[in-house]
Amino acid sequence: MNGKRIIFGVTGSIAACKTVFLVRALIKEGAEVQVVMTPFAKEFITPLTLATLSRKPVISEFFSNRDGMWNSHVDLGLWADAMLIAPATASTIGKMANGIADNMLITTYLSCKAPVFIAPAMDLDMFAHQATQQNLDKLRSFGNTIIEPETGELASGLEGKGRMSEPTDIVNILRQFFSINGILCGKKVLITAGPTYEKIDPVRFIGNYSSGKMGFALAEAFAKRGADVTMITGPVSLKTQNTRIKRIDVESADEMYEAAVKHFPKSNYAVLCAAVADYKPENKIAEKIKRENNVAMTIRLVNNRDIAAKLGEMKQPDQILAGFALETKDDIANAKEKLKRKNLDLIVLNSLAEKGTGFGVDTNKVMLIDKHGNKVAVPLKSKTEISDDIVDYLINMKIIWV
Ligand code: CTP
Repeated sequence: MNGKRIIFGVTGSIAACKTVFLVRALIKEGAEVQVVMTPFAKEFITPLTLATLSRKPVISEFFSNRDGMWNSHVDLGLWADAMLIAPATASTIGKMANGIADNMLITTYLSCKAPVFIAPAMDLDMFAHQATQQNLDKLRSFGNTIIEPETGELASGLEGKGRMSEPTDIVNILRQFFSINGILCGKKVLITAGPTYEKIDPVRFIGNYSSGKMGFALAEAFAKRGADVTMITGPVSLKTQNTRIKRIDVESADEMYEAAVKHFPKSNYAVLCAAVADYKPENKIAEKIKRENNVAMTIRLVNNRDIAAKLGEMKQPDQILAGFALETKDDIANAKEKLKRKNLDLIVLNSLAEKGTGFGVDTNKVMLIDKHGNKVAVPLKSKTEISDDIVDYLINMKIIWV
């Protein structure tokens, strides 16, 4: 968990006393821990204890009482690699499930882009109640992980299911999560995404329909596994989520080329997803072209430089370079030819003709073809899932071949 950033939410349950062991264990594992407490949690354990153990001031109010400084739940939500809420009371679970943002912990939860782990702790009847179970189901449907409570003696003196899972088990769950998702920690990734715009005059350009969705999904998939991603993107209306993604906005193929050539030497992986214009107008016209009736207009186009081919030339043996191909005929043969010509390690063949694929949609169906001739057909899936498959394939390629 070295360097992993964890928001640790603590709520008002007697199990809050176990957070001492949890915070200590996470810090020992090398994690950076920011404790956020609900007001009621402070009745069970003091902020001073958790601040001392986590080596950071604890946050529990929207403003600091001392200097009136605003505690930004949005920044905190974006900072985290994971959020753990332990213990999570029935009340907090209910608020999380229903978006009742009346304390710093819930606002942080609602702003959090990272995976969330919830360790409920409460009396057996509260845990078994339909309201609690429905709320937990709702949180599962949001993609949150519920760390099931244990059965045993409860603070009420009753026996049953409701005891918060033991700190060592919670730490193991996080350790396992980060061992998969932290596999690219310290690795650098370069991505090109979106279309390029080639200027004709100050108000017109030649562009294409690329939405950038595939490139952005890939950047998130790499960042989720701990990589530091530099994404060079043409003009798109998308936003990045993970703070590990550094975004460089460009407009033309020339600008994308310069940025890619600059950043490639420090990259362990590069995936070229951008729909780069093959041609640009030979001359840029400084003034807006005026309409002339009954006169045909000719714009002479010249070649843009091929970014993929250039990076293929620059590539060192320990670097992995992947590209995309979009073909309308002889797709596999053309993709293989591109893979070779551009010295790529992997090419992702898109099929524009199929339903649910192509520009602007959230799904895709691809074939992965590597430099050894292996072919893997990936069925129609969301671009997020396809990105996970591509990233896993590239990681395996690097382990096996490099
Ligand atoms: N590519 C690039 N720079 C260019 C053109 C393409 O980096 N100037 C990259 C794309 O990002 C993609 C791969 O090369 O990863 C293949 O793109 P594609 O447009 O299919 O290849 P072209 O060589 O342009 O071939 P064609 O347009 O003739 O099919």
